[in-house]
Amino acid sequence: MKALLVVYHSQTGGTRQMVDALAAGATEAGEAALRVLHATDARPEDLLAHDAYVFATPENLAAISGLMKDFFDRCYYPVLGRIEGRPYAAMVCAGSDGSNAVRQIERIATGWRLRAVAEPVIICTRAQTPEQILAAKLLADADLERCRELGASLAAGLALGIF
Ligand SMILES: Cc1cc2nc3c(=O)[nH]c(=O)nc-3n(C[C@H](O)[C@H](O)[C@H](O)COP(=O)(O)O)c2cc1C
Repeated sequence: MKALLVVYHSQTGGTRQMVDALAAGATEAGEAALRVLHATDARPEDLLAHDAYVFATPENLAAISGLMKDFFDRCYYPVLGRIEGRPYAAMVCAGSDGSNAVRQIERIATGWRLRAVAEPVIICTRAQTPEQILAAKLLADADLERCRELGASLAAGLALGIF
């Protein structure tokens, strides 16, 4: 069975809900092994041990979050040249944008020579004030459905050998 690794960080819970929905979709499909790791726990060996990846992050200050950056910083060179060609997808939880976080993940993935096999999923919370930004997030079911579908299609694609 092919194995999918999800590496994520979440400060106020939005990205975590996206990951939970993706995991539900992948598990329903039941065709791929799934491991979900917080960015602080993910190591180069975890990347090497899996066939495909989902990177999920908040957009903070027009960038991936600091702990996702730390994950990439720690793992970039130890696995460079050893995971080429493996499929990946990106998910970003943002207030109103998310595009720079996606771009950063795409640049890192290009360096690793990973293959994007799905459009990135960006969910915007529309939080504007500091209070709204810092509040726990509750994402809409319709948005989370996009994450569930991504999980299901990644699991199915891996099982069928499409990727
Ligand atoms: C320090 C900080 C910086 C942020 N910067 C951005 C930003 O540049 N663009 C954006 O769209 N949202 C920004 N946001 C909003 C978050 O992306 C949004 O609250 C999202 O829900 C965070 O995901 P999380 O709930 O998984 O932590 C920022 C939030 C914080 C706390």
